[in-house]
This record gives sequence, structure tokens and C-alpha cells, in this order.
Amino acid sequence: MTTETHAATGGREGNPLWSSRLTFILAATGSAVGLGNIWKFPYITGENGGGAFVLVYLLCIALIGVPILIAEIYLGRRGRRSPLATMVHLAKQDGRSHNWKWLGIMGMTCAFLILSFYSVIGGWSMVYVGHAFNGAFIDSTPDQIGALFGGMLQSPGNLLFWHTLFILIVLTILAGGIRSGLEKAVNILMPLLFLLLLVMVGYAMSTAEFMTAVEFLFKPDFSRLTTEAVLSALGHAFFTLSLGSCAMMAYGSYLPENVSIPRTAITIAIIDTLVALLAGLAIFPLVFSNGLEASAGPGLIFQSLPLAFGQMPAGLLFATLFFFLLLVAAVTSAISMLEPSIEWLEEKPALNRVKATAIAGAAVWVTGLLTVFSFNQWAELHPLAFLPVFEGKTFFDILDYLTANIMLPLGGLLMVLYTAWCIKPMTVIDELKLKSGTAALLLPVMKFVSPALLLLVFVYNLL
Ligand code: PFF
Repeated sequence: MTTETHAATGGREGNPLWSSRLTFILAATGSAVGLGNIWKFPYITGENGGGAFVLVYLLCIALIGVPILIAEIYLGRRGRRSPLATMVHLAKQDGRSHNWKWLGIMGMTCAFLILSFYSVIGGWSMVYVGHAFNGAFIDSTPDQIGALFGGMLQSPGNLLFWHTLFILIVLTILAGGIRSGLEKAVNILMPLLFLLLLVMVGYAMSTAEFMTAVEFLFKPDFSRLTTEAVLSALGHAFFTLSLGSCAMMAYGSYLPENVSIPRTAITIAIIDTLVALLAGLAIFPLVFSNGLEASAGPGLIFQSLPLAFGQMPAGLLFATLFFFLLLVAAVTSAISMLEPSIEWLEEKPALNRVKATAIAGAAVWVTGLLTVFSFNQWAELHPLAFLPVFEGKTFFDILDYLTANIMLPLGGLLMVLYTAWCIKPMTVIDELKLKSGTAALLLPVMKFVSPALLLLVFVYNLL
């Protein structure tokens, strides 16, 4: 990180910027690549019947995700403040309503809520580092592996412990000004995760059902595509790119002026998508070869991968490394979820970075208890069952649904609408340094295509 002048940082005196485009790409990729790619993508693909869902997801990334990613980072860089203050500042500068602040408030809240359950799942990956290292998977049967997973969920004390530890790790990194340590860590660990996924795909290729899995993932069967699946694909495109929650806006607020946002956004989207597809190719062959259910839900990777690790050569090493890297991916995403809240608290005169981090952290830890108990004590508690969409859903399910399927797409919609309709087109072209060809493509997509598609999915789902 370098320190730039008062003018360059839009009024945040002495505030730091990312040291280079590469650093920003690493941090933003660190935010994007996380449990969403390795844990969530495979299990929701399994729940939604495979190929057709994957196709819709890829279309959502390209047609909606990338333009909105560009818009979100751009808004952040223009504002150079916390997301809330950024929206207030931009609305004033562009002569728009003060109510745009609600976009900042919603995004910040959404990222906060996501972290509350994300950290519990992050805790699972810590438990599994331990299991892996102790050789718990070696020569285990699917039933034994299933029991290991079930046992973990049944113990609230255990989940609470790991949730707490996960939050503490995230806070420690955030409090100390994340960048230098984070930059270095992500630099080495992300490529390593990628490599390890390739090894896992290599192993999966040797199993009997590899081609079944490839067909499941890439041969669309549109008869299995429900409305809910389309909404889920859209929501996941947002989740996996960390979009609509102001996390990318907060990271964008530290981005140097000379970096090309469109190129950067495309790079992030490609890496993120590759990781998700590799995870699918590593996991589904094992699921099918071992007679497991593709629609097993949130436990899918914790019940399928250990079987492979238990049988492959040097499985203990690979398993430990894998769950450790999953944890790293989760941590680098988690820090981006709290950054908007911290940046906002930090703007209060009485609070410095450390205090702001402590307050945000304590609040998210408490909110996380809802998820901790969703898997045991409150597993049968369906607090919003009187609303049809929340029937049968625990606190965890509700938080997941509300954030990914409603708040993130809505936040993204507002961001792209603001960029395309509330800022003068010449300003956007100028500040994004768009060549005429790119501008002719990107601006109409931002103005019409992405919002129209988003609205279509929303309205269709409501009806
Ligand atoms: N993109 C992260 C993942 O795929 O795991 C999740 C995420 C990060 C969502 C940051 C939202 C966010 F603000």
C-alpha cells in the first residue's frame, strides 16, 4: 500500500491505496473466491439438477455479474469513503436524492449478515483440518464420514468455539490494516488452492463416474430447471463475485486511479468461475462413484471429498492441505464482508480502526449464534414459516435466502442503475477510460440489459 495525496483519496487524508493493480486483483479475488465456490456452488448445483443450472449461472456471471462488478468497484473508487458515505457523497455530487444512502446501508448490512453464517461454515473447515490431520478419513466408509459430519453439527458448543476462533482470526487481520499481510498471503495461497483443486480433479478423473459428473455439470436438462433454480443461479452469481454487498465497493475505495476497472473485473470473474467449475469437477465424480446424493445440501463437500482423501495416496497430506486452503479462502472472503461496516464506523470521530473492528466483530459474533443453533437446538425452529417462501427454513436458511437471493441482487440492481442512469455517460466513459468500442458495448448493457434481466428474474419469481 502506498499513501497518496489528499486529493487523490477524495478527502481521506493520508488514507492508503492498494499498491498496484495486481494487489487489488489478489485482494478482490480473495474476496470472490471462497466458500461460495468450493462449498456452495457444488451443493446448490446438486440441489438444482446440474447442467441447466450451471448454464444459467454462467450467463448470469457474464451478462449481469461482470457489468455490476465494474459498476460497484467504480462507485467505490469515485467515492473513496465507506459505502454509506460514498453514496451520500456521490448523490450530492451528481445532484441525486439523498436516499441513495440506503443502497450503502443495505449493502453493508447484507455483507454483515452473510459473515454471521459464513464464519460458522468457516469453522467447519477448521474442524476438518483437524480431522484430516488426525487421519480420520483413512479407509472410512461413507457412513462413517457421514457420522463425523453429523456429530459436528450436533454439538453447539463445538460449533460456537470454531465460529469464535474464525471471527477472531478475521478481526486480527482486519484490525492491523489488512493489506501487507493479506497481500502476501493471498499471493501464495490462492495459486496453491488452484493447484490443489487440479490435483483433486486429476484424482476424480480416475474414478468410475467421472464422465457421469461431466455430463451432470455440462449437459443442460432444462426439464430440471425451476424458477427457484434460476433465482438461485442469479443469487449465487452475486454471492460468488461478492457483488451487491458493498464489499467490492469498499475495496474499490482504495483503488489507484490508473487501474483499468473493466479489465480487472473480467479477470476476477474468470478466475472465480474457473475455481467453481474445478470444484464441481473434483466433487461430483466422487459423489456419483460412492453412491452419495448430489442433492445432499450444505454437507456435500464435507461428506464426499473425505472419501477420496481416505483412499488416495498421501491422502492425509492432501486432505489437511485442502481444508486448510479452504479455510484461507474463507478468511480472505470474510475480511471483505466486514470491511464496509468497519470503514463506516471508522468515520465516526470517536472510533479508530481497532475500536471499529472490535465493535463490528462483537456484533457479528452475536448474530452468528442464530446459525450455530440452526444446526442443532433450533433445527426444527422455522421462525418465518407463516410466509410461504420461508416454510421449513431455519435461521441459517433464512439468512442465506434473504441475503443471496434478495439483498445482493437488489443491491446490484441499484448500483448498476445509479452508474448507468444517474452519472453523466461522458463522466463514466472518461473516468473508466473506456475506448469507444467498449463504451458502445458496456453502457447499453449497464443501462438496459443487466437491469432488465435482473428485474425479469425478480418479477418472475414473485409471480
Ligand atoms: N464471494 C464469497 C464466496 O464466494 O465465498 C462470498 C462473499 C464475500 C459474499 C463477500 C459477499 C461478500 F460481501
